[in-house]
Amino acid sequence: MTAVLLSLYACLALALSNAAPVHDDVMIKDAPEDHSHPKGEDHHDAKLDRCKGIEFDAITPDEKGNTFFFKGDHLWKGFSGPAELSNSTFKELDDFHHLGHVDAAFRMHHQDDLNVHDHIYFFLGDKVFSYYNYTLEQGYPMEIQQDFPGVPSHPDAAVECPKGECITDSVLFFKGNEIYSFDIKTKSVKKKVWAHLPNCTSAFRWQEHYYCFHGYNFTRFHPVSGDVTGTYPKDARKYFMRCGEGFDHGSGARRQRCSEVKLNAITSDDKGRSYAFQDAMYMRLDTHRDGSHHFPISRSWKEISGVVDAVYNYGDNMYIIQGDQVYIYKSVAHYTLIEGYPKPLKEELGIDGPVDAAFLCPNQHIVNIIQGQKMYDIDLDATPRAVKMERPIPFPKIDAGFCDADGVKKTQCIPEGPTILL
Ligand SMILES: *[C@@H]1O[C@H](CO)[C@@H](O)[C@H](O)[C@H]1NC(C)=O
Ligand SMILES: *[C@@H]1O[C@H](CO)[C@@H](O)[C@H](O)[C@H]1NC(C)=O
Ligand SMILES: *[C@@H]1O[C@H](CO)[C@@H](O)[C@H](O)[C@H]1NC(C)=O
Ligand SMILES: *[C@@H]1O[C@H](CO)[C@@H](O)[C@H](O)[C@H]1NC(C)=O
Repeated sequence: MTAVLLSLYACLALALSNAAPVHDDVMIKDAPEDHSHPKGEDHHDAKLDRCKGIEFDAITPDEKGNTFFFKGDHLWKGFSGPAELSNSTFKELDDFHHLGHVDAAFRMHHQDDLNVHDHIYFFLGDKVFSYYNYTLEQGYPMEIQQDFPGVPSHPDAAVECPKGECITDSVLFFKGNEIYSFDIKTKSVKKKVWAHLPNCTSAFRWQEHYYCFHGYNFTRFHPVSGDVTGTYPKDARKYFMRCGEGFDHGSGARRQRCSEVKLNAITSDDKGRSYAFQDAMYMRLDTHRDGSHHFPISRSWKEISGVVDAVYNYGDNMYIIQGDQVYIYKSVAHYTLIEGYPKPLKEELGIDGPVDAAFLCPNQHIVNIIQGQKMYDIDLDATPRAVKMERPIPFPKIDAGFCDADGVKKTQCIPEGPTILL
């Protein structure tokens, strides 16, 4: 029998207020200070001011969640601060031939192979460099063709696309208006042309969102279809860096205290992604190192509007319960509503809505549904599905339930939260 694990609330310092306007793009967080590599003293270049409008050569996060912006032989670390020489952080980029600029960079996402996962890859001419912990990996630099067969030399931009966002763990390379989608495991390449997308000089993934940078502007695109939805381009200085007066993009939002946050649901999927839902917004919980941000639920689950009551994952599917209806989404690449849904909860699970919370523990097939002070066990492998067991619970009102591999009750507070510039 699964232990009963409940979280009365998960405490997130969400920078979210009900009255705040919902905006579409990223929020920034300061890169944490890092003392693990030497910083040159006169390496700052006041002449390179990214608030004057820079077309970046490359943008990539590192394994600690710092974001690096590259231009010529300089880089910026994080979303504020001056330019530094790139070779003071990534020494060997210089050794090979004098560093003019990097063509492209990305942070590898491939948890199946921890020898490459989270490494930063740089592309210079026909060479590729792999770094981890600011140290060049043995055997690098090597020919791009050797490591990434089928990928052209001098790519303009590159961005990782993990399984769940792309069909498989992939890297998207951009050159002119061509896109080379590289499957990391099979090393196969598919070429596409996204003629409607501007030619990207750098590309960046942030919180499951994909951004093509061109000039000082950026355009958000879908990593599988290339579709652009929303009003683009937008000025990067208003979103990805702190440029002060004239570069704000709206009114400020108040940061909520933990005690003020009332979540509606929390869930984790089999790919390790966890989500919190509050009002009409959701937030990814497991990517905190890269910053955090709330997005409209309808951005990822198109058919859902308004507040959800309970969410749980089972296998590849995410179940979203709202009132007396249940929506089942398949997560292959992005969430797709399964045909025939939403369906009445009664028909799917044999229980009447509304419910307060639902959770499933890893590798289990019993979903625990909470309604008032009762918890119901429903076996998802049984047909028809019906309540197997009913138990009282000693809490007055549950907002969200969550169970993870540690088998511990989880109360999570993300202390610094994002700095929000709504
Ligand atoms: C770093 O690059 C600058 C200019 O590109 C160059 O003058 C300097 O010698 C380089 N430093 C090292 C340690 O390679
Ligand atoms: C990272 O590199 C530094 C030296 O540059 C070293 O002291 C540290 O142990 C390394 N950390 C890891 C996790 O390898
Ligand atoms: C985009 O790249 C293509 C080559 O792939 C080139 O023909 C076109 O002129 C470029 N567009 C712009 C606006 O630079
Ligand atoms: C940026 O986008 C605006 C439209 O939003 C456009 O007028 C401007 O020319 C673009 N600038 C660059 C450098 O791409």
